[in-house]
Amino acid sequence: MPTQSVTSAHKPQITISSSPREASAGLAASIAEAIRDRASQGKTYTLGLATGSTPIPLYQELIRLHREAGLSFRNVYSFNLDEYYGMSPSHSKSYHHFMRNALFDEIDIPTEQWHIPNGETPRNEIGRHCQAYEEAIENAGGIDLQILGIGRTGHIGFNEPPSQADSATRLIILDPLTKKDAAPTFGGVEHVPNEAITLGVSNILKARQIALMAWGEGKSEILARTFNMLPTPNLPATFLLKHPNFSVYLDRAAAQKLPPNLTCQPL
Ligand code: F6R
Repeated sequence: MPTQSVTSAHKPQITISSSPREASAGLAASIAEAIRDRASQGKTYTLGLATGSTPIPLYQELIRLHREAGLSFRNVYSFNLDEYYGMSPSHSKSYHHFMRNALFDEIDIPTEQWHIPNGETPRNEIGRHCQAYEEAIENAGGIDLQILGIGRTGHIGFNEPPSQADSATRLIILDPLTKKDAAPTFGGVEHVPNEAITLGVSNILKARQIALMAWGEGKSEILARTFNMLPTPNLPATFLLKHPNFSVYLDRAAAQKLPPNLTCQPL
């Protein structure tokens, strides 16, 4: 497929920082401000959350703000993007377990206010489970800010290529490259689940604001391709270019192959 310059009406806001920690601190500060602003109006704030290595510095900074700056998450609702299929919430490699360790057990978000797809849903109930998950997001007022990482296949959530712009929450087969990248965590590719339940691209695009984070040279190639292409199901992250409020947080290593025509903001 020929590469083309981005002609989307909305240019993403790209911030390049010297480290993941520095980039995450900036994003965490704006999240804290939004949460406090809503709390002062007696309103809730809804976060869409990701797992994996990318958001860890962001979660560490949010925990620090909770402990040291009195940031409360009592008015926060959250919905995670995905969960491995066939995995119990208590499994040490489940995204439930990850999120409890990385964030939820360290802050004051009420248990009934965070949500993750259930990887143990019986196969014949997956459609109903996914629909109920989408309805719960709607009932919470929709996602205010969706946090995203990006996979080397170009996936967002676990929307592997090809995923359509109108794809909904569903069971998906993981790409071999995604399984390979997860192999060290699982102690071998043979232990990585084959499937996951993921929010669809359409659900992600409904968020009022989207923040994509990526660190390290290993993400530079897929980022360069993402920002050089018109939106295509073959690289699902390209659909983010259609979103009017899309920000990108990178370190220098991840940003090194970006096309020069993008407006970058070095810190
Ligand atoms: C995780 C998720 C994935 C990851 C992506 C990058 O909930 O939805 O899209 O964000 O696979 O993973 P890391 O951050 O481990 O490089």
